[in-house]
Amino acid sequence: MAADDNCFSCAFGDLTLTRASRSHSRTEQNLQAWDAADELLLAHLAEQGVADGARLLIANDAFGALVTALPTNTAIAFCSDSFLAARAARANLLANDKPDAHIAWHTSLDAPQQPLDYLLIKLPKNLSLLEDQLYRYRHLCSASTQVIAAGMVKHMSAGAFDLFEKLLGTTATSLAKKKARLIFCTPQENCRQSGSSPYPLRYAFEARNLTLSNHANVFSRASIDIGTRFFLQQLPRAEAPLHIADLGCGNGLVGLAVAQQMPQAHIDFYDESHMALASAKQNMCDHFPQRADQCQFIADDCMASANADQYDYIFCNPPFHQHNVVGGFVANQMFHDARRALKTGGEFWVVGNRHLGYHVHLKRIFGNLVQVAANEKFVVLKVKKR
Ligand SMILES: C[S@@+](CC[C@H](N)C(=O)[O-])C[C@H]1O[C@@H](n2cnc3c(N)ncnc32)[C@H](O)[C@@H]1O
Repeated sequence: MAADDNCFSCAFGDLTLTRASRSHSRTEQNLQAWDAADELLLAHLAEQGVADGARLLIANDAFGALVTALPTNTAIAFCSDSFLAARAARANLLANDKPDAHIAWHTSLDAPQQPLDYLLIKLPKNLSLLEDQLYRYRHLCSASTQVIAAGMVKHMSAGAFDLFEKLLGTTATSLAKKKARLIFCTPQENCRQSGSSPYPLRYAFEARNLTLSNHANVFSRASIDIGTRFFLQQLPRAEAPLHIADLGCGNGLVGLAVAQQMPQAHIDFYDESHMALASAKQNMCDHFPQRADQCQFIADDCMASANADQYDYIFCNPPFHQHNVVGGFVANQMFHDARRALKTGGEFWVVGNRHLGYHVHLKRIFGNLVQVAANEKFVVLKVKKR
């Protein structure tokens, strides 16, 4: 991507924004770190004027376009479920010589306390996350809080509108501009008091005698993914005190199954979603309270922070999209990181849809490959670090 392509001209001035990605994938490098919904929201705020000292909460700012653009004489709570989003936002503030003393950094699980003049939400694709956030933040709103959500029309569903109406107050939408739209909501006391959050969701997985707790933004939060189910049927057993990683752990089910089959294993869980890590931790504490203390729950971009040569096994059901972008670039980064983090002789086990062609990449990176199992939809592959 040329440097000019990183130039974001918005109503608060010109910025240089990147996705701060480690990926060398062309597809990902060619993607912008903002969208027309960011532009529309910032244009609306600039037109109105944001008062000195205004208290804002920004949820789901994908790469920090909002937090970097908004005036620094405000008090901003940055709330995100994504480790990658917070990393990109910090990098973009730094790259644009913006201080961050006015910003309080929160994960999606925190409960910020400051009353709000503005609640600004970039609409997530996942309505459960939106629902969780409205329950989580609505007590910070009063009738004078401006609640504004922004999204691309293609990702905006009637369900989002209904959630604002039900959980916060009277809701209206703007006209679309460049395929983006704003949602405006006026908080009302009777809505703000109604109901309570259904999250985390819990369900039983009888085949393994496990009950799983799932925060709102977790993969397969309402039922078990069929790929994961197939993966679990193939997992190896071992008695030795091995060092294992569950990479892209979601609710930690793969790691829990490993804990059942490897009674002495020490397991680390990696994910970029804070809700995933919190769910995995809860599930380990519920089912293996004595072992949970030795586990690490690591917010990371793939396994960037892992020491080299430390794991005997790494298990992974890779994501096939990130921040609304479909592509194999995250899986590919995971494969490279896993190779680095494995001990010599260690094994990397992957489940994936047959059509994703993981075998090609794995064979290129590891120089060997065994197909452990396959059905009409999925394959389980293993490779060894030599
Ligand atoms: C297909 S889900 C698998 C979840 C779980 N292992 C299972 O099988 O149910 C992929 C997981 O990768 C995580 N993920 C996506 N991008 C990531 C990244 N760059 N680094 C670490 N984890 C990531 C997602 O949050 C998600 O939990």
